Amino acid sequence: MKAIESAHEVLNNAVIYFRGRPVGTLAANDPEAPPAAANYAECFVRDFVVSALVFLAEKRYDIVRNFLEVVLQLRKQQRAMAGHEIEPGVMPASFRVVAQEDGTEELVADFGERAIGRVAPVDSMMWWMILLGAYVRATGDEELAEGKEFQRTMHLILDLCLKDSFEVFPTVLVPDGAFMIDRRMGVYGHPLELQALFYGVLQTAQELLRPVPKSVEVVKLALKRQQALRTYVRIFYWLDLPRLNEIHRYGTEEFGTGSVNMLNIYPESIPAWVVDWLPENAGYLVGNLGPGRMDFRFFAYGNLLSILFGLATDEQAGAIMDLYEHRWSDLVGWMPAKICYPALEGMEWHLITGADPKNVPWSYHNGGNWPMLVWALVAAALKTGRHKLAQRAMDTAKERLLRDQWPEYYDGRAGHLIGRRANLHQVWSAAGLVFGHKLMEDRHWLSLLPT
Ligand code: GLC
Repeated sequence: MKAIESAHEVLNNAVIYFRGRPVGTLAANDPEAPPAAANYAECFVRDFVVSALVFLAEKRYDIVRNFLEVVLQLRKQQRAMAGHEIEPGVMPASFRVVAQEDGTEELVADFGERAIGRVAPVDSMMWWMILLGAYVRATGDEELAEGKEFQRTMHLILDLCLKDSFEVFPTVLVPDGAFMIDRRMGVYGHPLELQALFYGVLQTAQELLRPVPKSVEVVKLALKRQQALRTYVRIFYWLDLPRLNEIHRYGTEEFGTGSVNMLNIYPESIPAWVVDWLPENAGYLVGNLGPGRMDFRFFAYGNLLSILFGLATDEQAGAIMDLYEHRWSDLVGWMPAKICYPALEGMEWHLITGADPKNVPWSYHNGGNWPMLVWALVAAALKTGRHKLAQRAMDTAKERLLRDQWPEYYDGRAGHLIGRRANLHQVWSAAGLVFGHKLMEDRHWLSLLPT
């Protein structure tokens, strides 16, 4: 119990207040050291969602409600770039409270313009909307989402996700580093994690948009897109041995609408590791897909969220959990769970990350282990009836996180070293464990998520 109590303390000490109201949680809050990067002293939208799941389960609704309102207001702080129209639905990556000289407080948002590499936080608006859905499910308070500003914002988010672009796939197209992996990592195009979030958004839209004439068309469109996205991901992102065999023997350069190898994936692009690694009777959704491009890396959050939001079929969900069973030491090891597998090494690391020293092989985003992911692993395991696996994940994480003071991530193939540049008292590491614990006590908290 001690680990959970301590995690709670980390979470509670990280609550930030704006004009006396709790509005969020800091990303990291090590009392003994300032965070490595200045922006860890901010409230990140994606990080707060994990805190919020705990708060909702504890009926501390006010902080979640305040957060949803504050982020909605902050949307207006975005500045246009010369020659760009403002993308009206985009939400900030993070925000902070700034004390003014006259003693008052202001909120300042970051839309990526202060982020390292100026990456665009595409996932923020998606997490915001998914959290709004969770809030409504937890509280039964439909009034908040029915408000004019909330309805308008959801419309803007959908407009942005559904609008015509240069796209020919039902998946959403994004630049590199547009989500939890917010550095250059070859995750541009159609990364799985954003497809899962997009799917959750389309589901939430159908639940929360009021049936007024203005919404009818959008809701119809959302439903159609959701169906197209689901079919596409379930077929084309899926990888198991039979499917790998198919790709291995694919014909290429097929012209015309009847082509089997629609995306023209060359069998020669199958990496050697995947052939030996993929067990029989297990599978996963690949990390990314585009013309002539299949990224075979396994990305944990994308796969787990696909299970949780119902983007994967039940059979696929089971097969992904089988992969965790078979490849536990690769995908979990000493700390649940590895963010992606395997790491980019050598020339690949050099070219794809731009020789990023923080993302060296088996560190940080490039194959590091992220304790925050424990909640999603536990949730997916419970959803697929793998109680033992969920328990094992919790047991692996608990004592170690407590002893190591809640690191942000771990390094090494098996994740047995504290991340070289990891913050301690990383709040979503602590919140992830607390929510995992709540799920173990009562799996009905799964119902906070869109399915
Ligand atoms: C890093 C992570 C990002 C996280 C942020 C705050 O930038 O890559 O996913 O939201 O830290 O913890």
